[in-house]
Amino acid sequence: MKVLALLGSPRKKGNTDLLLDAYLKGIEASGKGAEVSKVYLHEKNIRNCAACDACHVVNIGKCVIQDDMQALYPEFIEADVVIYATPVYWWSVSSQLKSFMDRCYALGSVEDSFAGKKAVLLLTYGGELPNKGPEIVRVCFEEICDYKEMDLIDVYGVCTDEYMPVAENAAALNEVFEMGKKIG
Ligand SMILES: Cc1cc2nc3c(=O)[nH]c(=O)nc-3n(C[C@H](O)[C@H](O)[C@H](O)COP(=O)(O)O)c2cc1C
Repeated sequence: MKVLALLGSPRKKGNTDLLLDAYLKGIEASGKGAEVSKVYLHEKNIRNCAACDACHVVNIGKCVIQDDMQALYPEFIEADVVIYATPVYWWSVSSQLKSFMDRCYALGSVEDSFAGKKAVLLLTYGGELPNKGPEIVRVCFEEICDYKEMDLIDVYGVCTDEYMPVAENAAALNEVFEMGKKIG
C-alpha cells in the first residue's frame, strides 16, 4: 500500500504536522509495511494552476508548468491512500494545499487517476466549536471525493489555539494514531 501524506501547514512540528505524524505512526504500527511518502508542501515550488487547459486539450493529463508538481504527479497517481492534512485558513484549506489540489486538475481527464483511492482529511483549527470552518472543509472534501470516486475513509479535526495545542492534546493524538492503525 502506498500512502501519500500531504502536509498543508507551513509550520514544521506545528499542530497539523504533529497530527499527521500521529496518523502516520498509526499506519506504521499496523505493521503491514505501508510505503509512506510525506510531502511538506510549503517547501515545494508549486505554482498556481493557470487554467490554460492544455492538460485537457493539448497534452492530455500533462501540466505544462515545470515545477515540483512534475515529481508529485506520479506519486499522487501511484498512491493508494492520500492524506490531506491542513490547518483551516479562512474557512478553507491552506493555500499550500489548495495549489496542490488545483494542479491535480491536470489529472482530471485521465481515467483512474483519482478513482478508487482512499482519502483522509486531517484538520486543525483555532476557533472553538461551533466553528463552521472545519465543517465547510469536510463538506468540500466529501464533494470532491464523491465527484472523483475516492473513498473518504477518515476525517478528523481538532481545535488548537483556543483549546490546547496538539502537542499537549494526548487524547487527540491517540485517537488519530488509532485511526491510522486501522488503515494499515
Ligand atoms: C492565515 C490563517 C488563517 C486562519 N483562519 C482560520 C479560520 O478561518 N478558522 C479557524 O478556526 N482558525 C483559523 N486559523 C488558525 C489555524 O487554523 C490554527 O491555529 C491551526 O491549528 C494552525 O495549524 P499549524 O500549527 O499547523 O500552523 C488561521 C490561521 C492562519 C495563520
